[in-house]
Amino acid sequence: MMDIPTDRISEMSYPTRVSFGVGALARLPAHVERLKMKKPLLVTDQGVVKAGLLEKVAGVLKQAGVTFDVFDQVEPNPTEKDVFAGLDRWRAQKCDGFIALGGGSPLDAAKLMQLLTTHEPPLSRYDDAKGGDRYVQDNLPPLIAIPTTAGTGSEVSRSGVATLQDTGRKTVIFSPYLMPRAAICDPQLTVGLPPRTTAATGMDAFTHCIESFISNGFHPLADAVAIDGISRVARSLEAACANGEDLGARADMMVAAMEGAMAFQKGLGACHALAHALTPISGVHHGLANAICLPAVLEFNRASCTARLARVAVAMGDNSLARQEVLAGNAIERVRKMNSKIGIPGGLREVGVKEIDLPKIAAKAFEDASHQTNPRKCSEEDLLALARAAF
Ligand SMILES: [Fe+2]
Repeated sequence: MMDIPTDRISEMSYPTRVSFGVGALARLPAHVERLKMKKPLLVTDQGVVKAGLLEKVAGVLKQAGVTFDVFDQVEPNPTEKDVFAGLDRWRAQKCDGFIALGGGSPLDAAKLMQLLTTHEPPLSRYDDAKGGDRYVQDNLPPLIAIPTTAGTGSEVSRSGVATLQDTGRKTVIFSPYLMPRAAICDPQLTVGLPPRTTAATGMDAFTHCIESFISNGFHPLADAVAIDGISRVARSLEAACANGEDLGARADMMVAAMEGAMAFQKGLGACHALAHALTPISGVHHGLANAICLPAVLEFNRASCTARLARVAVAMGDNSLARQEVLAGNAIERVRKMNSKIGIPGGLREVGVKEIDLPKIAAKAFEDASHQTNPRKCSEEDLLALARAAF
């Protein structure tokens, strides 16, 4: 069923240097040497430490005689505080590069530490929503990303996200120079991820693919990557949740996560605008927020991107040869079914969101740039209606 080799490591240079395959972690010392790092700072979080993955990575470095230091205090959904604490450590230990290990939080936090080694704070100066990318120069120390989830795709993306005090929201900082110099994608590192996290992070990758595919920009290259990611998630997310040790499914999801991040250079949509508001206001996991909102957002968009949604249905395995309008409906139905099979709760109320907060969530979502590429124009009222429909 899978077209993924699980018995060898592949090297790719698209969109950055990627070592991909079961056991790819062994290539880490070679990347450290290639990038001329004498003392990298390994940035991670407590979840990774508890899963035993820091120990595993540290073991590979020690065995190769690499000197390094560790900062393992990144919080879920990182803030400026985490970024400055890591930066202080990097400076105090006289480090010269970064190894970012974990899910989106450590990867994004490490990218922002990397930025501030050579750029003046505050981080809000570099806010993508205000064109902050023009201040980012090509003088960052090297960073190697090692994902331990298959979701954000931050290992191959040109952005870092953190909640900033100045903006009061999850803020995207974007620059081509934030693309990691190397990504080590080893499906074995995701084997211990519990089914709930596998489902939530996997649906983040899926939402990146589907939102960018139906978004209103012109980017056929991103479209091609996105449609492949949609197929991979449709065929492998359920298997990865049911049996975490299914390396073929884990590898497929790791590819889909990369593809999602490569595709969303085209733009995202209303689902991510809502998710970016739901996390800081109601504490909902980013991927979970996307998964719950996605069917309602697709219904809202349906008439504006019927042909695209029909292609999504086909990519997800629909071979009914039905009319486009029918296929578009089938795509949304398939997303709903996938959500329920992997245990995604049916509504926002089930994950602790309070009805009274929905107007605030809609207002924050409206401030978020993601919905500007949504295939159907969204007002604040539309976003409120979507939040209610997903409630
Ligand atoms: Fe996302």
